[in-house]
Amino acid sequence: MSFVAINVLTVPAAMRDTLEQRFANRAGEVDKMDGFEAFELLRPVEGQDAYLVYTRWDSQASFQAWLSSQAFGQGHAQASADGPAATGSSVWTFEVAQSKTRA
Ligand code: HEM
Repeated sequence: MSFVAINVLTVPAAMRDTLEQRFANRAGEVDKMDGFEAFELLRPVEGQDAYLVYTRWDSQASFQAWLSSQAFGQGHAQASADGPAATGSSVWTFEVAQSKTRA
């Protein structure tokens, strides 16, 4: 059963471009992790203002391993060096109960 971890980011309007630019230049370290399945940066359109950083894994253990890896630090180097673009964040986690992806 896949496992989904979403980082919910509160981003002031003036920092949106900075945030998106950082993701455009992201390290790509996460892509190489064992058990990594998918990543999406979701820009808010309507209903609320948060950006969602969507990640999907083959198990919760794979996600936990990435969190405590060097790759996680390398994937967050810009945010660490230049200060965060987000003013808040919280992590939501899910088990995939059902799913369908069109080929
Ligand atoms: C303190 C909380 C966090 C903040 C403010 C934050 C913000 C950011 C920012 C600005 C980047 C762009 C790259 C950079 O700045 O170096 C990034 C990368 C990323 N973040 Fe976070 N992040 C946080 C924690 C997390 C967590 C817990 C997850 C798990 C869902 C996550 C998922 C990702 C992914 C997948 C990338 C791309 C890494 C890569 O390409 O290797 N982040 N994050």
